[in-house]
Amino acid sequence: MAELEEIAQQVRTCTDCRLAESRTIAVPGEGPDHPALLFIGEAPGYHEDQQGRPFVGAAGQFLEQLLASIGLRRDQVFITNMVKCRPPNNRDPLPGEIAACGKYLDRQVQLLRPKVVVTLGRHSLAKFLPGATISKVHGRPRSLGSFILYPMYHPAAALHQQSLRSIVEEDFKKIPSLLTQQAKPTEEAPASQQLSLL
Ligand code: URA
Ligand code: SF4
Repeated sequence: MAELEEIAQQVRTCTDCRLAESRTIAVPGEGPDHPALLFIGEAPGYHEDQQGRPFVGAAGQFLEQLLASIGLRRDQVFITNMVKCRPPNNRDPLPGEIAACGKYLDRQVQLLRPKVVVTLGRHSLAKFLPGATISKVHGRPRSLGSFILYPMYHPAAALHQQSLRSIVEEDFKKIPSLLTQQAKPTEEAPASQQLSLL
C-alpha cells in the first residue's frame, strides 16, 4: 500500500487522543500524491466528521471558490488538518491533541513534498511559526526548509467576519506567483524553525 494511504488507514483507527471517543469518522485529508500546494486547516467540523473528508462544509465551499479564482480545483491540491478528528462542539483542539496527532501531519508533509504549504488559521500557523501573529504574517510567504510557507486566515473566519473576506481573497491571489517562483525566499526563517520541521 502506498505510504500516504497507510497513514490514512492508521488515522481511521487511531485512538491516540480523546477525540477518538467523540468522532464519527476520522478525516485523514485528501489530494494527489505530489501536490504543488498543501492546505492545512484546524480540525474537522460537523460535515467533515460525517463524511470523513476535509473542508466539505461552508468553509470548504468558500475554499473551493478561492481555488477556482486562481484556476484550480480541489482535487489538484492536498487538503488536511492539524487534528484529524472533530473536537466536540467544534471547540479548539487542545495542545495535547495537536501533539498526539502531529505525527500524521509530519509524515504527510514529508511524503507530499509540496512546493507551498498554506496554513489556514492560527493553529496550523503556530505549528510552523510558533509565536507569530496571524494579523501580521498573513499573506507573507517565507522559505521554510524545503517549501514556501504561506500563512492565511481561516476561510471560516472570513465567513463570520466580513472584513476578512477581501483580505483572504487578496492573499489567495498571490498563490500562483508562489507556485512559479524559484526557491527564492522573501523572508528567511531562523534555522531553529527550519529544523523543527524534520
Ligand atoms: N475547518 C477546518 O479547519 N477543517 C475542515 O476540514 C473543515 C473546516
Ligand atoms: Fe488519533 Fe489524531 Fe484522531 Fe487524536 S485526533 S484520535 S491523534 S487521529
